[in-house]
Amino acid sequence: MSTASSRWSRRSLIVPAALVLAGGAAALAWRLISPPPSRDFGGLVRAGRPHDYAVGEVKSWASGRFYMVRGPSGFVALYRQCPHLRCTIPPPVDGTFECKCHLSRFGLTGELLRGPAQRPMDRFPIRLVSGELVVTTGEASVIRRTEYDDADAFNPGPVA
Ligand code: FES
Repeated sequence: MSTASSRWSRRSLIVPAALVLAGGAAALAWRLISPPPSRDFGGLVRAGRPHDYAVGEVKSWASGRFYMVRGPSGFVALYRQCPHLRCTIPPPVDGTFECKCHLSRFGLTGELLRGPAQRPMDRFPIRLVSGELVVTTGEASVIRRTEYDDADAFNPGPVA
């Protein structure tokens, strides 16, 4: 048989327990919807929000080894490695990328303008997580392009 004081004591534990459970549920929900942590090449890299980029703007993400480009059709995360013999392609000058090893040239969204490379720059997958562009980097994630296609661009929709 319970006394009035023991009932009161149990009730006084219910509110803190409910708060702890609610806090845990909120933390779990936040973890599920928040972007993954930014990491170096081989991991997921946060590349900012779509509205951080003007059309035609290129931002360099050295730790992820890519350039994020906002082209007229959307976003492309271009792998810095040249599709010819794997030299690192420096940032664009006057709207084009030029590999300094053998002078292959590419447009801002990676299209091949001049060889000896035989194909466009490769790219990485992009997705939108909690309003941020997140790029999956690493050798296993490289999307090798044999030809250029405007439809390769990632369009985040009206959030941009
Ligand atoms: S490695 Fe880039 S042009 Fe040859």
